[in-house]
Amino acid sequence: MKALREALGQYATGVAVVTTVTPAGDRAGVTVNSFASVSLDPPLVLWCLSGRSPSAITFLGAGQFVINVLAADQEHLSRRFATPMPDKFAGVETRPTETGLPALTGTLAHFACQTVTVYDGGDHLIFVGRIEEYQRSGGEPLVFHSGGYREFCTDLRMLNQVGA
Ligand SMILES: Cc1cc2nc3c(=O)[nH]c(=O)nc-3n(C[C@H](O)[C@H](O)[C@H](O)COP(=O)(O)O)c2cc1C
Repeated sequence: MKALREALGQYATGVAVVTTVTPAGDRAGVTVNSFASVSLDPPLVLWCLSGRSPSAITFLGAGQFVINVLAADQEHLSRRFATPMPDKFAGVETRPTETGLPALTGTLAHFACQTVTVYDGGDHLIFVGRIEEYQRSGGEPLVFHSGGYREFCTDLRMLNQVGA
């Protein structure tokens, strides 16, 4: 299992926090790197959540979610939303999306989605959502590779590194 995890970790990804709120006001937020775009027309994305996650019931009940794409300076948010605690949102700045969901501020982009299907994915649930609203700010991304946070290298910096 450890060897497989380490092999899978060779695939570098960005980092996102998926957030939601139920009609009753229960909020959930989880750090993920399983986010992927699926389709442009219709606009669909997916992400995977451990079936053992205490947040699963909230995401299933809410029926909608926001993918918040973290910036390079938001490692603290990645760590916070990857740590079980009573209120992950305490002290975290959010603003409502057009659909009333809590979006994190200072991110590179967010995608507010309606859940269209939840597939059984072994020990994970695969959430597929239709993008209802999105915003893009841009900037340098937070990068995750081989179990750690990495610095994003622009083409220019890579050229400098190899002395080109
Ligand atoms: C960079 C990174 C990526 C992660 N990706 C996922 C993921 O895709 N799916 C998942 O279920 N957990 C993922 N996790 C672990 C969850 O963030 C962590 O288990 C969190 O505590 C889940 O929230 P919960 O306590 O509300 O269940 C990731 C953690 C980190 C640091």
